[in-house]
Amino acid sequence: MHKIDIELVEMTMDVMKYAIDRLSATQSKIGKPKTEAKLKELVGETITDKGVGGEYAFNLWKKYLMKATVPVDHPRNLAFVPASPTRASIMFDLVTSASSIHGAYWMEGAGGIFCENEAMKWIVSLTGLPEGAFGVFTSGGTAANLSAMVTAREHWRKNEAFKGEKGLIITSVGAHSSIKAMAKVIDVDVLLVDSEERLLGEALQHTINGLTEHQRKRLFSVVATGGTTNAGIIDNLDGIAHVCKKENLWFHVDAAYGGGALAADSVRHLFNGIEKADSITIDPHKWMFSPYDCGAVIYKNPELAKQAHSQEGSYLDIFKDEGAHGFNPTDYQIQLTRRVRGLPLWFSLATHGTDQYKKAVERGIELAQMAGKMITESPHVELVREPSLSCVLYRRIGWKPEDYTHWTYENHKKGFALVTPTKWKVGDTYETVSRFCFINPDTTGKDIEMILDTMK
Ligand SMILES: Cc1ncc(COP(=O)(O)O)c(C=O)c1O
Repeated sequence: MHKIDIELVEMTMDVMKYAIDRLSATQSKIGKPKTEAKLKELVGETITDKGVGGEYAFNLWKKYLMKATVPVDHPRNLAFVPASPTRASIMFDLVTSASSIHGAYWMEGAGGIFCENEAMKWIVSLTGLPEGAFGVFTSGGTAANLSAMVTAREHWRKNEAFKGEKGLIITSVGAHSSIKAMAKVIDVDVLLVDSEERLLGEALQHTINGLTEHQRKRLFSVVATGGTTNAGIIDNLDGIAHVCKKENLWFHVDAAYGGGALAADSVRHLFNGIEKADSITIDPHKWMFSPYDCGAVIYKNPELAKQAHSQEGSYLDIFKDEGAHGFNPTDYQIQLTRRVRGLPLWFSLATHGTDQYKKAVERGIELAQMAGKMITESPHVELVREPSLSCVLYRRIGWKPEDYTHWTYENHKKGFALVTPTKWKVGDTYETVSRFCFINPDTTGKDIEMILDTMK
């Protein structure tokens, strides 16, 4: 299994051909899921005592299994937050795998970690955080949010007065589900400001003023969103930063989706105040065109993250020794063994330069504006709210929730598009609406027009 033979050489060629075909394809298909039973019926038993052989297994992948997946970079995949990794980054993802690098400690991963850090310096520079701020790449936004929340909580708990207290954080209804999920992981309570619209400093202050004395004691952090997943809304970061400073609270900005837009001159001002954050989440695998999985967590004071996350063990001492000196990414987030997952981003940034990134992000914003205009001019659909960043919420006049579901399935079944419904909160009720999220710069006005036409 670890030997080099002719079969391995042939398999290498097959894999390279597959990668080349995929990278040079101008049109990919939107695949469809099948039930597990159906997939099993198609591929049969693949894990056996003697193995079915690489060629056979690879053919099953190409013939059946790959087709049961939806490529995130299809230009008409506008669901959730899609992705559009650059070809350079995908190629370097292969190189990253082939290089077998342990990315936890400088001693083992120096070359790879150096590249990650070069890419990270660019990301940090976009935030405007002060000198000394730095970050690490994580498996995604959820892990980045968790790492930041643990750091905030540990920092807070250094005060003897809070040692026995269960923590409390404030965020808004628009915050991503991972904030609530990760709060469960670290066993802290979450108080939601009840609006999906932009969270303002005044509303935050009002919420804090309404806390009981004990709740106020337990409150240690506020999580603002720099581009909500549902609607692309950026909270009033400057106003929230002001309240956090006054109330001595850790200020975290979840910009997992919207963070890429820090590179876009047309909307950069909307993020003013992000430079005052204690920690920020940005996902390069969303709007920075990296392959999965690649998130990032950035700290104003990385030393606090190190105090919270650095793992101790006699088997780890050597990595922290003088002789191994260098930056150890494991010290700043929840994971020990890690892929150098920032490496594909580094290669793509080095290849194309940051101007191309600006342009590609601006294109997503432009597509959202184009879609907004088309929706306004079409009698059968209407905007729910003005497009924000690259998100567009719109309704098909007269449709019920089940119509949206049926329409999504129909377009998916045809392999035409993946556009999924969401809900928008109006007063106390939630309305089912349709949503576009643009990431792929190759999406065209024609794609949008064709999708809207299927709603007629
Ligand atoms: C604002 C925001 N935060 C966090 C996440 C979670 O990121 P991930 O799926 O990479 O864990 C998402 C995902 O869409 C998001 O949009």
